[in-house]
Amino acid sequence: MDRLFVTGGARLEGSVRVSGAKNSALKLMAASLLAPGTSVVRNVPRIRDCAVMGEMLEYFGMRVRLKDGVAELDASEVHDVEAPDELVRQMRASIVVLGPLLARCGRARVSMPGGDEIGARPVDLHVGGLERMGVAIRSEHGFLVAEADELHGASITLDYPSVTATENLMMAAVRAKGITTIDNAAREPETADLAAYLVAMGARIEGAGSSTIAIEGVDELVPAEHTAVADRIEAGTWAAAAVATQGDVTVQNARPEHLELFLSKLADAGADISMSDAGLRIRQVSRAHAVDFVTLPYPGIATDFQPILLAMQATAEGTAIVTENVFEGRFLYTGELRRMGADIRTEGHHAVIRGVPRLSAAPVRALDIRAGAALVIAGLVADGVTEISDIEHLDRGYEDFDTKLERLGAEVWRERELVTLP
Ligand code: UD1
Repeated sequence: MDRLFVTGGARLEGSVRVSGAKNSALKLMAASLLAPGTSVVRNVPRIRDCAVMGEMLEYFGMRVRLKDGVAELDASEVHDVEAPDELVRQMRASIVVLGPLLARCGRARVSMPGGDEIGARPVDLHVGGLERMGVAIRSEHGFLVAEADELHGASITLDYPSVTATENLMMAAVRAKGITTIDNAAREPETADLAAYLVAMGARIEGAGSSTIAIEGVDELVPAEHTAVADRIEAGTWAAAAVATQGDVTVQNARPEHLELFLSKLADAGADISMSDAGLRIRQVSRAHAVDFVTLPYPGIATDFQPILLAMQATAEGTAIVTENVFEGRFLYTGELRRMGADIRTEGHHAVIRGVPRLSAAPVRALDIRAGAALVIAGLVADGVTEISDIEHLDRGYEDFDTKLERLGAEVWRERELVTLP
């Protein structure tokens, strides 16, 4: 397990280019199962989660070539429908193979998902929606086993606009007989990006990106080419790091229309935000002000921003109240921030954070992807050198994070753990 060391005190300055969105690329790769032949997905971030998805698709019989951000995905043959435990455990997003496998093969066996240790993360919305489409699902020895002689269109209202449930249902519905409507669907830009790819494959989808999606099943889908949307969470991470370090960062490739509420919070914190051909520029000239915020499904502030915005506020002026509405248990990492001197109290799904002038470096652990990014931001404004262990979580979600940080003027380095063989 690698460790990342961050020296505090740097002011981030310069330009950084945002990679393709992990939460889009993973689904685009999985959707490629639907069309016999070779599809091409561009702007795939070089991160571990995408490599894991590639391995899983190969396990099903696909031929996958991932190089320089381009994924060539040959789904001419799909001979296995079991998503094995050792891969699913590494990444909860593996659940998105369920819909396409069912649509392509009429059956799927997916190990119950692992990945980030955040909250309960059940799969009832995936299961309930698929059942309405004629799928028989049972749980067997830690696997979800799903079978359908024929998928049929259905009218589905989700209790909650779950991102991956919406995507699984959409990917199953594109080959179902008749029309499927998904009400209270997720509106995330990555879900709309997936729909655009499916449409390029010949699917009929209307309303993606809104809370009602209508899908008319078709008899076949054909290979397509698509470029993954820019990663709004990565863009926001650089923006928040710029504010925390009182820096001046231009984020290239960022899509500000996907970051509206998030950016309005940075503006409230005192950031000067502008957009030009060079990218999204975030400039902070004095200590940030504390800002309250609430996480919600899109277009609300993403739960993935919660740790990042909290770390940004650890050294802000004033007190902020933060409400986490999406995942229970997503404040676990605040214990690590407290080790660094942050003044945070949590109660249920609320956190109260009182800004302190400076944090102090400490050995800390990255508990998940975004908690890892939060600790890096904290390390940048701490006295001394912060040592972050379990950094592989960060690598699951961010491409070239250390290199990008260094280019912005941060002093960071990595220590690789040497494995001693018996
Ligand atoms: C996706 C993102 C993740 C992000 C999250 C919320 C991917 C690969 N991951 O995760 O980065 O943090 O959206 O924006 O795109 N729920 C149920 N039953 C279900 C499904 C979900 O109760 O069947 C609950 C979850 O426990 C959670 C909430 O719904 O409380 C949101 O989960 P969901 O939108 O499904 O998140 P993911 O799709 O897993």
